[in-house]
Amino acid sequence: MDNLLEVRNLNVDFSNGDGQIRVISDLSFTLVRNEVLGIVGESGSGKSVTSLSVMRLLPTAGAQTQGEVLFEGKDLLSVSEQEMQQIRGNRVAMIFQEPMTSLNPIHTCGRQITESILLHSKMTKKEAQAKALQLLELCGIPDAPQRLKEYPHQLSGGMRQRVMIAIALACDPDLLIADEPTTALDVTIQAQILKLMKDIRKQRNMSVIMITHDLGIVSDFCDRVAVMYTGEIVETAPVKQLFRDPLHPYTTGLINALPRLTGPAGRLEAIEGMVPDAGQMPEGCRFNPRCKQATERCRREHPMLKTLSDGRCVRCFLFEDKDQGEKQHGE
Ligand SMILES: Nc1ncnc2c1ncn2[C@@H]1O[C@H](COP(=O)(O)OP(=O)(O)OP(=O)(O)O)[C@@H](O)[C@H]1O
Ligand SMILES: [Mg+2]
Repeated sequence: MDNLLEVRNLNVDFSNGDGQIRVISDLSFTLVRNEVLGIVGESGSGKSVTSLSVMRLLPTAGAQTQGEVLFEGKDLLSVSEQEMQQIRGNRVAMIFQEPMTSLNPIHTCGRQITESILLHSKMTKKEAQAKALQLLELCGIPDAPQRLKEYPHQLSGGMRQRVMIAIALACDPDLLIADEPTTALDVTIQAQILKLMKDIRKQRNMSVIMITHDLGIVSDFCDRVAVMYTGEIVETAPVKQLFRDPLHPYTTGLINALPRLTGPAGRLEAIEGMVPDAGQMPEGCRFNPRCKQATERCRREHPMLKTLSDGRCVRCFLFEDKDQGEKQHGE
């Protein structure tokens, strides 16, 4: 298979006053070309830190990153800053969780898109301006010539997010990382932006990492999904399989917590307990204090992420023997 991105054994530590806190632990996943991979998990599970590490945009002071981030086989963690800037502009782009903090308040939207185009192509200013207009139109921004002259604060949240998408697309990236691109928006606008991203993705054959805590978005948009808990991946699976037959008790909990549109009403079942603090991880499996199926071993030993015979991965002792059984039965 043609892997566009391969993250291998990524660890990220932040220093605080007392020492180091590990917020990403031994994270590995792959993104096949043209695939949409969802990364889901509760707040604080490390989704944004993961995407910022791939982009190499974590603060240099205070964050230590180890492991490999292979983009077409090249390790982004070891290229020069200059090369990384090239890659960031031309090959990999990111839509940030907070459009207001990533747009520059003192420049017009037009200038920001045009500059991004000029930085990464040999176009003249005029050509870049024409492309900026085209991009705004592609992103469904009405009255685009007028919008180009406006400043970010003059736009609604939905329009700002569209401008962010336009900037991200300015360089025709092969990989788009979208970090909760619709979380701050109301439901109707959210649906519009997702539809837009779907259309653009198809048109441009982009691969996408969609970061979200919304399983609805995952089922609607993604091909495969990685579930994160406390800085670790606990399960990866094709989307349909994940919803039909979740393996990890945490994934099952997330899916059971979804309000049902069909079937008996009132089955809302949130996962009990709290996500532990980064500095106070429980012994053994990190999910064990919240897991109804936890055994003595789960409280003692930390499970590895295991690849099952059907290609799914799960970090849970419950599936160690099961898979061997399946294999014995010829699956
Ligand atoms: N710059 C930083 N310095 C120190 N700790 C950080 C920094 N950025 C993130 N963290 C910590 O890393 C952990 C993961 O944070 P991250 O922002 O990746 O979570 P997330 O999954 O994106 O959450 P959300 O759904 O709320 O966006 C959290 O414990 C957070 O407090
Ligand atoms: Mg985040």
